[in-house]
Amino acid sequence: MPSPRLAVLVSGRGSNLAALLGAQGERGYCITEVISSRADAPACEIARQAGLPCHVLDSAAFTSRAAHDVALAELLEDLEPQLIALAGYMRILPDALVERWAGRMLNIHPSLLPALPGLNTHQRAIAEGHREHGASVHFVTPKVDTGPVIMQARTQVAADESVEDLAARVLALEHQIYPRAIELVASGSVQWRGGTVFHEGEPLRSPLQLESGF
Ligand code: GRF
Repeated sequence: MPSPRLAVLVSGRGSNLAALLGAQGERGYCITEVISSRADAPACEIARQAGLPCHVLDSAAFTSRAAHDVALAELLEDLEPQLIALAGYMRILPDALVERWAGRMLNIHPSLLPALPGLNTHQRAIAEGHREHGASVHFVTPKVDTGPVIMQARTQVAADESVEDLAARVLALEHQIYPRAIELVASGSVQWRGGTVFHEGEPLRSPLQLESGF
């Protein structure tokens, strides 16, 4: 059976895109499209070097948010990916689009959700004295960073931790869990149905943990 086709949405550096590209053979999905909200995103160059189309819907080229939303929705309808991965995509998606792709759209977030939704998670983890920090892959829902979490990876926060060191450690964990979580959804092992996430047919009571072998 052919591997499920994955579209990756990016806005910036693209390290998760690179990790997803590197793991796709092993993890049973195939990235067929990259969509960027910025023409100058380094992620576009990563896509091109991998021989992939990078569809640029640069925010600056649209007169309104609504026009950009429509263009993205139409592009996704045309491309017909089976799964969508947000990988550092910095625009908030309209509810209708999120609902259209419910259960087939994933995001990676640099915190142990539900802790620390939003931006600057590493700084906030240190400032708020978190002992543990990490990354989460979740299904996307209309409210940002609140969808059901599929998989997490965690790391201890040292007393004298620098933001840079913590960010680098969490990013390395992101690169491990995102391909794994996508593999589970692509294979049907993880499904989100009727408001419940199932793993191998059983309701998933808490996120899968990289440290537990996923
Ligand atoms: C990652 O930390 C991801 O968790 C967050 O945005 C960042 C994107 O980094 N959503 P990159 O563009 O994948 O390098």
